[in-house]
Amino acid sequence: MRLSSLLSLATNVAAVTISVSKDEGKDASPLQYGLMFEDINFSGDGGIYAELIRNRAFQGDEFMPSTLDPWSAFGPADISLFNLTTPLSSALPTSVTVKGRARGEIGISNPGYWGIDVLPQTYKGSFWVFGDYQGDFKAALRSASSGEILASVNIPSHSNTRGWTKHEFALDSDIAAGYKTNFTLTFVAESSHQVLNFNLISLFPPTYNNRENGLRQDLMQSLKDLNPSFMRIPGGNNLQGKLPGSRWKWNETIGDLIDRPGRTGAWRYHNTDGLGLIEYMLWCQDLKVEPVLILWAGLYLDGTVIPENELDFYVQDALHEIEFLTGDASTEYGAKRVALGYATPFEINFVGVGNEDHFSSGMTSYNEYRFRMFFDAISEKYPHLQILSSTIELDPIPKGAVLDYHDYGNPDGAVRNFTLFDDQDASNKILVGEYGVARNNGNEVLWKDHRKRPWWIASVAEAVFYLGVERNPDTVYGCAFAPLLQNIESYQWNPNLITFNANTSATVRSTSFHVMELLSNNRFTTLLPVENSDEYDPGFWVAGLNDDLNTYVWKGAVYNTTTEQEFEINFPGSQQGAVAELTVLTAPDPFSENIFGEPDLVDTRRTRLEAGQKGFAFVLPQWSVAVLSWQYRSTK
Ligand code: AHR
Repeated sequence: MRLSSLLSLATNVAAVTISVSKDEGKDASPLQYGLMFEDINFSGDGGIYAELIRNRAFQGDEFMPSTLDPWSAFGPADISLFNLTTPLSSALPTSVTVKGRARGEIGISNPGYWGIDVLPQTYKGSFWVFGDYQGDFKAALRSASSGEILASVNIPSHSNTRGWTKHEFALDSDIAAGYKTNFTLTFVAESSHQVLNFNLISLFPPTYNNRENGLRQDLMQSLKDLNPSFMRIPGGNNLQGKLPGSRWKWNETIGDLIDRPGRTGAWRYHNTDGLGLIEYMLWCQDLKVEPVLILWAGLYLDGTVIPENELDFYVQDALHEIEFLTGDASTEYGAKRVALGYATPFEINFVGVGNEDHFSSGMTSYNEYRFRMFFDAISEKYPHLQILSSTIELDPIPKGAVLDYHDYGNPDGAVRNFTLFDDQDASNKILVGEYGVARNNGNEVLWKDHRKRPWWIASVAEAVFYLGVERNPDTVYGCAFAPLLQNIESYQWNPNLITFNANTSATVRSTSFHVMELLSNNRFTTLLPVENSDEYDPGFWVAGLNDDLNTYVWKGAVYNTTTEQEFEINFPGSQQGAVAELTVLTAPDPFSENIFGEPDLVDTRRTRLEAGQKGFAFVLPQWSVAVLSWQYRSTK
């Protein structure tokens, strides 16, 4: 769509005239747009958690307690898993034994999470060894096809047979050599009897804010660009666990990495839990977002429910988790956090009791005792906390409980939900903790149709839904798209907001990303009433004032019409000659999707628009999302 045609006033549909009033505004919720994160689609391990070595500690999955996959032997060596009588730790009992078959350079090789991006930068690594060796180890990044060394470092051994020793190294690369590479860790066998054992072999690129054990810089930048206000963590189904015993246990995700056993996540692959509870908090701090901490609440995904007389253990566990994060050094669990080096308590204002408890036969027990037991105990000890029910089907709903609404419907349904929150009782606010159009209008589920989607029709429909959220700040805190991230090499769910692989310059921002980015970066502080000449549909809109920026903002979307739609908009005080900025998102057609490895199809046009006699006049094409912002006074 050419800009000139967007701005043309010649159209076959009467203009919708919209007058924004400055009176009777509502305080707009400070949360509005947020993120939902759980480890799905290798979005944590192999994703935002920057560790480059896949299966660094020889852990397993639901079928095997441990595996060598994807490691292979380097040089004339045999490799095998062993549980030595002296393990590295009780959490990481299995190590790899490397046994030479001849003299020479031998070791192990790892392909990373389907590649390791070699860039001119310094990688930080470490590994643990057990066994007698006096020479140097060599850590190297090599071409996967030729084996050529791209970067390497020698590390003098201090390994011995008395116990496990940690070796740390910095690996400098001078070149950008792509991501089709392997990491090798080798040593020189002086005889065919040489044997060494290795465990917890780790390699990190520079991380966001240079944090130890930190996060991938490029993906964090994408999240920053979304301008989020909250992050719901750590799930999702992954928090719940599939089978009895497999829940996410906060206390096993903290402390030294050698003390984190990890677990098979609900999405069937091993979670190292290197991205643990503290790392989640630091992540929220780095993004400057409010954590919405979801607590395990007695329901496994297979439908197993903890009976009432056994639930108190889990309620206490949740209280310990909150105390660990927020308590000072005088509290039992706060002191444990301080001992880990985090003296300042983290700030938590929102906690959620479970995830989607209306599924898997969870609703009855949730209504009868599970929600109430958590709610009563948490509100008694932490009265300032906003406590989320994991479902809007909760009955009875205690005063003040916040309802976590999830929806993975179809595009038409998202548009109909523009008014969903209009009549909501404000005594129980809603947080839309998971939202994403995951079906087509025939209502077929799309999440098995991988690689593609979201597609533009869905993204415009999501925009309409978000506008419905924005026009109800007194009843809805905000909303988050889910799932957030997808590694294109191995995934369980579609659509996702951002798709990536090991190549840090290949990340794809979906059509839905662009919509959320535009709406989230144009915030109101006050929602303002509007007078319309017309009903909503096919145009949908909302308007407000950003007091901090002295800016009036109108946001709109046009869904499912065969014609373009003309608008004439007047803000309070906008006279003829006033100049606003109009941003319009379009795509070639409703089925356009941003496919990995192909060009971004979303067209973003920004233009200066001068008010005429009828106000700010412009035309939006069908299937478009737009923001008009008018700064009535400079902020200087
Ligand atoms: O976002 C994917 C899954 O959808 C979440 O884990 C779960 O909460 C929901 O059903």
